[in-house]
Amino acid sequence: MTWKIHFGNCAAGLVIGSALAMGAPVLAQTAEQGGTIAASGSGAVLACVTCHGQHGEGMAAAGFPYLAGQGSAYLAAQLAAFASGARNNPVMAPIAKSMNADQIKAVAAYYASLPPVFDAKTLSGHLDTQPPKTATGAWLANRGDWSRDVPACIQCHGPGGVGVGQNFPAIAGQSAAYIKGQLLAWKQQKRDPGPLGLMGEIAQRMDEAQITAVADYFAALPQPAKAAATPVQGAKR
Ligand code: HEC
Ligand code: HEC
Repeated sequence: MTWKIHFGNCAAGLVIGSALAMGAPVLAQTAEQGGTIAASGSGAVLACVTCHGQHGEGMAAAGFPYLAGQGSAYLAAQLAAFASGARNNPVMAPIAKSMNADQIKAVAAYYASLPPVFDAKTLSGHLDTQPPKTATGAWLANRGDWSRDVPACIQCHGPGGVGVGQNFPAIAGQSAAYIKGQLLAWKQQKRDPGPLGLMGEIAQRMDEAQITAVADYFAALPQPAKAAATPVQGAKR
């Protein structure tokens, strides 16, 4: 498995969660409850599908991220951060605050159980290890920028940005506006810096042109239609 190799490079490997310790039947039941909340809401909790799509695929044009296939620990941590204000978002804050701990656990398990919006197996074979010097986004994603101490994104997010384990979310195919918004939020210290402060520090070291370029790169990754701009060998949705 490719991710193990990349994962070894990453200090944040230490934070990988305890989800593996959960029993499978319990997890399935929890995910089922989460599916009900996602589809219909529960009491004061709004349905998630309205914004995040029927299958957790998100709505790129509106800036609603996909949730399908993200690690349950990651999703639960984000909901807790919205509720506490550590991650500042006026849309998600009241929704997260309306959920109790069990509901958060359930929706996180549900979305983690859904297939990602991209073909992870194919996309994780996608590497631009020799991008042209002018391809800022591809360069940052695959090689980093050592003059600024910015590691390659794929070291933690996996080749193709497909995500690694519980705590390193997939970023491939999120909308450019969403990716850029998150990086700027870290730069402006409006989003909790996350495990070991990793993303907070990385975003600080990037300038806005680099942020825009790398956001465009990952947003275009799973779509073969955009292959002319960014060659994607064999990637498909
Ligand atoms: C009215 C629209 C709306 C609804 C309904 C909604 N969300 Fe969101 N959600 C958003 C937006 C917008 C963001 C992006 C916030 C940001 O930019 O930080 C988001 C982000 C998230 C994230 C963070 C994703 C990531 O990759 O970090 C999670 C987790 C999440 N929502 C879960 C839920 C759940 C669970 C529900 C249902 C209980 C829900 N949302 C309902 C609009 C919505
Ligand atoms: C050393 C590990 C590491 C590296 C390198 C790294 N990231 Fe991250 N990234 C993380 C972690 C951990 C998170 C989850 C943060 C959290 O839990 O709040 C994350 C989250 C993100 C998110 C938010 C995803 C979402 O759904 O909201 C984006 C966007 C992102 N990273 C982009 C990048 C880009 C672009 C690069 C390369 C310039 C990069 N990352 C390099 C560890 C890393």
